[in-house]
Amino acid sequence: MSPISILVLHGPNLNLLGQREPGIYGTVTLENINQQLHSLAGKLKCEIECHQSNHEGNLVDAIQGALGRHDGILINAAAYTHTSVAIRDALTAVDIPAVEVHLSNIYRREDFRHHSYIAPVVIGQVSGFGAQSYILALQALVNHLQP
Ligand code: DQA
Repeated sequence: MSPISILVLHGPNLNLLGQREPGIYGTVTLENINQQLHSLAGKLKCEIECHQSNHEGNLVDAIQGALGRHDGILINAAAYTHTSVAIRDALTAVDIPAVEVHLSNIYRREDFRHHSYIAPVVIGQVSGFGAQSYILALQALVNHLQP
């Protein structure tokens, strides 16, 4: 049996983690988050593939490309969380179990961040634990796929 495979998607501006608003997002870089995820994936005996894009269409393409290749999707759609019907529709279309991640607690921030187009079509959401949100989300997703 082949190991569980997870696609990790990071949306716009997350390539700037480490230098971007450190008071909100912390000082951990995206590379470091990906390293932490790879290390956890090794322990959980699953495979992960990480992608970042600043472009909505690229994220839609990546979600579509997960069909037949990945068993789960971990997604921090960043600002597109609050605007993108296209990303939500892509997640619904592929029907691959997904978990939504945010470094910051989006419900403690500006009103426009309180609504997520993605939340209603994913298994669950982890928000507010900084880089640890990704770790918790990967554990939860793998648990869901392999109870
Ligand atoms: C974010 C929260 C979003 O509101 C914001 O646009 C981001 C990052 C987070 O991880 O906390 O870019 O998704």
